[in-house]
Amino acid sequence: MQLFFFYFFLLVCCGAVAVRAWAGCQRDRDKDHRPRENCTALGFSDVPRGFEPTTEVMLLPYNQFTSLSWSSFQIFTKIYEIDLTGNQVPDVPPSVAPVLPSLRVLRLGSNRLKSLPEGSFSACPALTELYLDNNGLHALSNHSFSGLSKLEILDLSNNHIAKLPELMLRPLLVFETLYLENNQIKVMPDDWFGPKEEVPYLYLSANPWACNCSLGYFHRYLGENEFNFYVRDGLIINNDAESVVSPTNRKRQRNKQERLTQKGL
Ligand SMILES: *[C@@H]1O[C@H](CO)[C@@H](O)[C@H](O)[C@H]1NC(C)=O
Ligand SMILES: *[C@@H]1O[C@H](CO)[C@@H](O)[C@H](O)[C@H]1NC(C)=O
Ligand SMILES: *[C@@H]1O[C@H](CO)[C@@H](O)[C@H](O)[C@H]1NC(C)=O
Repeated sequence: MQLFFFYFFLLVCCGAVAVRAWAGCQRDRDKDHRPRENCTALGFSDVPRGFEPTTEVMLLPYNQFTSLSWSSFQIFTKIYEIDLTGNQVPDVPPSVAPVLPSLRVLRLGSNRLKSLPEGSFSACPALTELYLDNNGLHALSNHSFSGLSKLEILDLSNNHIAKLPELMLRPLLVFETLYLENNQIKVMPDDWFGPKEEVPYLYLSANPWACNCSLGYFHRYLGENEFNFYVRDGLIINNDAESVVSPTNRKRQRNKQERLTQKGL
C-alpha cells in the first residue's frame, strides 16, 4: 500500500513538473531553478501573451523582433534574464524609469544595433551581464552604460567600434570582464580604466592598436596587469598579453625573437 502511495505521489509530482508548452515554447527551469520559457526560433515579433507572470528567464533568440519594448516584459515581475540574440533590433529604446528593476542578464548579440546613446540601459539598472556582440555598433557615448553600477560582464566584441569614449567605464563599479575583440580600436584614452580596482578579464585582441606615444597609458596598464589579458577560441580561454599587440608590431617582435634564437640567445 505504501508503495502504491509512493507511485501515486511520483505520478502527481512529476506530472506537474513535466514540460508544458505555451505558444510552442518549452517551459522548464534554469540551472538555478528559475522558471524559464524557451521560445527559440518560433517566428515571434513580440512577447506572446499568456505566459506565467512568475517566469524569470525568457529565451527568445532567433525570432523576428524588429524592436525592443521594455514594457512588454513588465508582466514578469521577477524577470531575471532576457535573451533576444539573433533578432533584428535596431536600437535600444530610451527610458527614464527603471522599467525592469530585477533584470540581471540581457542578451542582444547578433542584432542590428548601430549606436548606444546616453543612458541606454536606464530601464534595467540591476544588469550584471550585458551581451551586445556581433552588431554594427560604431558610436558609443561616455554615458552609454551609466547607471549600471552592478555590471560585471560587458560583451562588445565583433562590432565596428573605432573610438573608446573616455568616461565610458566610469559608472561600472564592480566590472570584471570586458570583451572588445574584433573592433576598429586604435587608441585607448589616458586613464581609461580610471581609479577602479583592476579588471580581471580583458579581451582586446584583433584591433588595429596604434603603436605610438598615444598608447603610453595602455602600454603601462598592460605591463602592470599582463595576467588579466586573455584570448578565447570557442570555450578555450588563454592568458595572452601579447594578443593586444598590433599585427605589425607582433611580427616585429617575432622577428626579433627569431634573430635572438638564431644568435643562440
Ligand atoms: C531552447 O530550445 C532550443 C530548441 O528548441 C534548444 O536548441 C536550446 O538548447 C534550448 N535552450 C536551453 C537553454 O535549454
Ligand atoms: C567624453 O567626455 C570627455 C570629458 O568630458 C570629453 O572630452 C569627450 O569629448 C567625451 N566623449 C564623447 C564621445 O562624448
Ligand atoms: C597615434 O596613432 C593614432 C591612430 O593612428 C592617432 O590617432 C594618434 O594621433 C597618434 N598619436 C601620436 C602621438 O602620434
